[in-house]
Amino acid sequence: MPDRHIFLIGMQGCGKSSLGKRVARETGLPFADTDAIVAASGGGTVNDFFARYGEDVFRRAETGALVELTRARPMIISTGGGSIMNPENRHIMRSWGSIVLIDRPLEEILSDIKLDRRPDLRDGGLAEVERVYRDRIEVYRNLADIIVRNDRGYHMAVYTLTRLVRERF
Ligand code: S3P
Repeated sequence: MPDRHIFLIGMQGCGKSSLGKRVARETGLPFADTDAIVAASGGGTVNDFFARYGEDVFRRAETGALVELTRARPMIISTGGGSIMNPENRHIMRSWGSIVLIDRPLEEILSDIKLDRRPDLRDGGLAEVERVYRDRIEVYRNLADIIVRNDRGYHMAVYTLTRLVRERF
């Protein structure tokens, strides 16, 4: 059992949630997803939450979810792609755990991201995904304690992350 949380960060569509959930099952660790927590607090999806309350409220709720989770026993926590842009969130993650970047190549993200489920990207399309990627990639890389490349398929990424969690935490 690790003594600190494992925060998964990375772009939308990099695989944080699906990998986190699966690796938690493989390793017997609890799993949480800040997007899911915020969405549930609004009684719908992340999309609904954005539409109903706007991004500012979403961002505050996201920080609130992170703070809540720090009080729980160590787990794998998948964070929303934009959470790292808030210095407070970066501070929380650094203080309470290790930060693992799921680093997926932009071309792969672009080829299968579901724009309709991404409120902030829907209007700008793939060009907006690319802009956001370029805006954030250095922040992700600088913040990460460990970088896991997700460029050889889902199963390889599950294998790599599972081994990492077992061996390093
Ligand atoms: C966002 C990423 C989403 C979600 C929200 C905003 C972002 O999470 O928090 O739509 O700004 O990148 P995922 O990265 O889990 O899709």
